[in-house]
Amino acid sequence: MNILRALSAISCTTVAAALAWSATPFNPAAIPLAVRSPYLSAWLQQGSGAALNDVWPTFWTGQIVGWAGFVKVDGQSFSFLGASNVPGATFVKAVQKSFQFSSTQSIFVLSAGPVDITITFLSPVEPTDLVKQSIPFSYMAVSASSMDGASHSVQVYSDISAEWVSGDTSLPVDWSTSSNNVITHQVQLARQIPFSELSDRAQYGAAFFSTPSSAASTYQSGADVVVRAQFINNGRLTNTQDSNFRPISDNWPVFGLSHDLGSIKAATDPVVFSVGHIREPALQYIITNGATQPRSLYFWSQFSCTSAVISSFLGEFGAALSRAQAFDSKVTSDAANISSDYASIVALSIRQAMGAIEITLSRNSNGSLNTTDVVVFMKEISSDGNVNTVDVIFPAWPVLLYTNPALGKFLLEGLFRYQATGQYPNKWSVHDLGAHYPNATGHNDGKDEAMPVEESGNMVIMALSYAQKTGDNSQLSRYVSLLNQWTQFLVTDSLIPANQISTDDFAGALANQTNLAIKGIIGIKAMSQINQLVGGSTTMTTNYSTIASSFVAQWQTLAASSSGQHLTLSYGNSASWGLSYNLYADKLLKLDLFPNPIYTMQTAWYKTVAQPFGVPLDTRHTYTKSGTDWEIWTAAIMTDTSARDLFISSVKKWASDGLSSQPLGDWYETTNGQPESFRARPVVGGHLGE
Ligand SMILES: *[C@@H]1O[C@H](CO)[C@@H](O)[C@H](O)[C@H]1NC(C)=O
Ligand SMILES: *[C@@H]1O[C@H](CO)[C@@H](O)[C@H](O)[C@H]1NC(C)=O
Ligand SMILES: *[C@@H]1O[C@H](CO)[C@@H](O)[C@H](O)[C@H]1NC(C)=O
Ligand SMILES: *[C@@H]1O[C@H](CO)[C@@H](O)[C@H](O)[C@H]1NC(C)=O
Ligand SMILES: *[C@@H]1O[C@H](CO)[C@@H](O)[C@H](O)[C@H]1NC(C)=O
Ligand SMILES: *[C@@H]1O[C@H](CO)[C@@H](O)[C@H](O)[C@H]1NC(C)=O
Repeated sequence: MNILRALSAISCTTVAAALAWSATPFNPAAIPLAVRSPYLSAWLQQGSGAALNDVWPTFWTGQIVGWAGFVKVDGQSFSFLGASNVPGATFVKAVQKSFQFSSTQSIFVLSAGPVDITITFLSPVEPTDLVKQSIPFSYMAVSASSMDGASHSVQVYSDISAEWVSGDTSLPVDWSTSSNNVITHQVQLARQIPFSELSDRAQYGAAFFSTPSSAASTYQSGADVVVRAQFINNGRLTNTQDSNFRPISDNWPVFGLSHDLGSIKAATDPVVFSVGHIREPALQYIITNGATQPRSLYFWSQFSCTSAVISSFLGEFGAALSRAQAFDSKVTSDAANISSDYASIVALSIRQAMGAIEITLSRNSNGSLNTTDVVVFMKEISSDGNVNTVDVIFPAWPVLLYTNPALGKFLLEGLFRYQATGQYPNKWSVHDLGAHYPNATGHNDGKDEAMPVEESGNMVIMALSYAQKTGDNSQLSRYVSLLNQWTQFLVTDSLIPANQISTDDFAGALANQTNLAIKGIIGIKAMSQINQLVGGSTTMTTNYSTIASSFVAQWQTLAASSSGQHLTLSYGNSASWGLSYNLYADKLLKLDLFPNPIYTMQTAWYKTVAQPFGVPLDTRHTYTKSGTDWEIWTAAIMTDTSARDLFISSVKKWASDGLSSQPLGDWYETTNGQPESFRARPVVGGHLGE
């Protein structure tokens, strides 16, 4: 993490009056609409209560991504999506009646005169199908149903603007429309700059907006006011294309699609739209001798062109929805075993976490995809743009273990493989694979953000966790010498950690961090088990285990406050304390390294220092901020359910407090529930840590 490049301040409003619609399970600050990749990330900034047609959808940064929706009922037009203003055309806003979200879907019901329309935004989570998971597309499905028993004539319209392809609306774009079994609008920057970003938006690749073609479907590209007025006034589009390519904000070109549902009475089958953003290659990755390798999204191993991907994606909407419903139910029932608050936090977190990763393959020299060479990449998002930040993968790890541990292995693979080339000069683990996504170009100068104990411990812990979960020891065997090297470092620096930063870098550097020592010591014990799993010598297995146990004994004296009531933040500072969330790894790996009284002591202590929105991260500075991932991990190590539920309900309270309009942030004020700048980060995958 790194807040040097903090995002602009977020404006906050006071808590809203009761909303006009029902919300299940609650109204989050921002609702995921199309969240599948670091560059396909559209949200509804609901704040304290904006309906689907009150505001424009935005990218996670808050920049508008134009996405409009209208429906005509018996000749009268209603807007259902976005905040359009269309001079010379008359429409009213449909009235939002309900909103609900699950792990993969956000579903809105709006009433448009005598008809209710249901809009389902489905961002699939397909963790065990690498082809499907790697397709950076989402669905919007719209169905209509008569509420008065009579038949009504209904037409549905939606468009996207060119804001989906850049962070700078003064840049020129060009576009095209194809109409076969599927109608697809494609739009891209006229000047493509591979691997480049502007305001966190990819400056290359293309956006696609599509729908199945039929006798009842029409399309049109052109100025926003022209295309929208055409639908509002006529209920259909002209099947024409605007060929005057121009900048995004010059008479705002939009890409419209419409369907005439005819006369409807009972609920209709949904009309389905897909929106996506594809880059090729997706990333560049450092190999030997400082050279880089272009990498492509996994789905290209099955499809040869974008039209084939889109037609497959749209064609299987029904099957995708069934899979999504099954996945959502499983998550809900698993999480509800803890509590309903917990289930709602998990449901809000999954798309956000999975939307930060991309599954890639390299190409063979003849251009075909090498399907045995899978590497997964994750963008840190909002704190900075680092690639595969080890201390961001670490908090996100539980969502990978839950959905498909192989994704975790493939995330670690890029880090291991780079460091095995010998180009990274430090004896501890690298912090990340590249300063800015999508450049996984390494740190051959060794000047990455150094978190020596943090990242070395994280790598050893995650590597063992994957092997324990799957029984697959191949990655351990391949990279055992790196794991050993990092553990040697932990032996020298984890009982008395030097002055350094931990993952909570915003809090600054500190020597002798109690919680950091826990991580390092667990790493040493984990290496003992790894050594055993790969058939290493018993001498070494025993040695690492003995060192870890002796460190725990010494640490207990160093780490306890003089009152004996809690662990300190740093050795010798009895007034200090913090969340000892690194103990979570002791439970995760089933090591039982730290004695039970430590856990019961911390459980009792946190109850005495909780603020209205949770327990502060630690006693540094005057702030009382905390991280939602660490709150949930601490919940997981509590020895009684009242302490556990205190942490969980605090996070739920923050996620639903309406004091921001940003995608779920993991860093906030525990006194008053105000947000810090972090948002939309994959670390919320840690919310599956119970
Ligand atoms: C990635 O590296 C390329 C050069 O290979 C550069 O043009 C581009 O700006 C870099 N992208 C980012 C996001 O820093
Ligand atoms: C949670 O799961 C356990 C073990 O399967 C079961 O005994 C318990 O009743 C469940 N609790 C809830 C609240 O569903
Ligand atoms: C391309 O190369 C790969 C790997 O060498 C090989 O397996 C594949 O058959 C080749 N494909 C073609 C069309 O030559
Ligand atoms: C495919 O990738 C694997 C894993 O990196 C590598 O061992 C193999 O040589 C590659 N295949 C080809 C044909 O390059
Ligand atoms: C860290 O703790 C050790 C053991 O108590 C002590 O000797 C050392 O001075 C401390 N280091 C710092 C920088 O406070
Ligand atoms: C145990 O490990 C430590 C740290 O790596 C090393 O210094 C020591 O020589 C080892 N002892 C044995 C008996 O292998």
